[in-house]
Amino acid sequence: MALVGSFFKYKNGTLTIEEIALKRIAEKTRTPVYIYSQKAILQTLSMLKKALSGVELFICYAVKANANPTLLELFAKQGIGADIVSGGELKQVMHSGMRTSGIVFSGVGKMEHEIRAALEKNIYAFHVESEEELFVINDIAKSSNKKASIAFRWNPDVDAKTHRYIATGLKKNKFGLNKSEIFSLLKKRNQLKYVDFKGVSIHIGSQIITLKPFQEAFYKTQTLILEIQSMLAKKLSFVSLGGGLGITYKNEKPFPLKEYGKLILKLFGPASKTPLKVILEPGRFLVGNAGVLLTKVLYRKKRKEKDFLILDAGMNDLLRPALYQSYHEILPLDEALLKGKYKKTDLVGPVCESSDFFALGRLFPTGVNRGDYLAVFSAGAYGYSMGSQYNLRPRPVEVWVTKDARAS
Ligand code: LLP
Repeated sequence: MALVGSFFKYKNGTLTIEEIALKRIAEKTRTPVYIYSQKAILQTLSMLKKALSGVELFICYAVKANANPTLLELFAKQGIGADIVSGGELKQVMHSGMRTSGIVFSGVGKMEHEIRAALEKNIYAFHVESEEELFVINDIAKSSNKKASIAFRWNPDVDAKTHRYIATGLKKNKFGLNKSEIFSLLKKRNQLKYVDFKGVSIHIGSQIITLKPFQEAFYKTQTLILEIQSMLAKKLSFVSLGGGLGITYKNEKPFPLKEYGKLILKLFGPASKTPLKVILEPGRFLVGNAGVLLTKVLYRKKRKEKDFLILDAGMNDLLRPALYQSYHEILPLDEALLKGKYKKTDLVGPVCESSDFFALGRLFPTGVNRGDYLAVFSAGAYGYSMGSQYNLRPRPVEVWVTKDARAS
């Protein structure tokens, strides 16, 4: 059976990752538990790098997708940087041993103390999202006697064709500056002596599965860069093309990565009109399908029209279905349970909210009952990181499967 992401496999009747039975992990720890595969992450990272060969690439992993310390250490060892959005993420990244010179700071609401801390650590660049923010950065840099490297985060007004909550590149969204704001700031550059205009950044949205929105946004970005360069009479040093690469949750078929790489090479590669260092800020793509959430069935509530399976994981552990009505594949660890009858089932959590569900009206095997373990797939990104302790529930455990772990 082909499973989402194909890193997790049934072997000898039980769901495994890197040859390890997930059930063993659940029994050794507790549920709910997030399980991540290092091998899956490294494979995905190398696929991305390969697709972009020829481009002067620097990957800044979007920490918000999953800020697990072991993951950040792994990325630090791989020499990649980080895209952060808060002082908390800055601290977490620094603990991982990542070089602060590989950090970009995004987000519409950077606070003064966060800007000061990032400046002190000499991060690579601030992605500026408003006129006021740029002046605040300039003032802070002045008082610290430093020059802050910045990129204009611009909003290209492109429809990413994704869930409206995770589209960020439309005029109506709060993100980024528009063209006229950027040029008005450039005209005020005499008052902005403590910032260095180094680049342009965009991020049009998340879980994008067709190339077209990227094409449209990247072409527009090239035009903008040419215009900025001619106004400043100097070359910019980088373009940050954001994250947004979509993954398969159900049966989505994202565009071939090769096409994405070709597009970037054409527009920003060494032989292009705008040869620049290219920063990418992938989050979901690198970790989404490398993680599952394991949960145990607490109760089956039988009803005529549909049953309820009540799980020990809830919306506080994985918020995506409640917030975006997003689909996550759910399978029992014991393959034999897939046989037999299926019935319409709501798979729900123990939290006191009707939006506390993982699947509604899904055809699910009637053989799955109290005490059985289930894996909720594609939970590596925006899973644990968006969790809370709502209902005063403890946070789930996180377990890493690495080659070394196999020996134990
Ligand atoms: N760069 C910036 C500036 C971002 O705002 C984001 C994500 C990324 C990069 C990484 O995007 P990715 O490669 O993961 O698509 N909670 C939502 C996703 C929110 C994404 C927010 N920004 C979800 O669970 O689908």
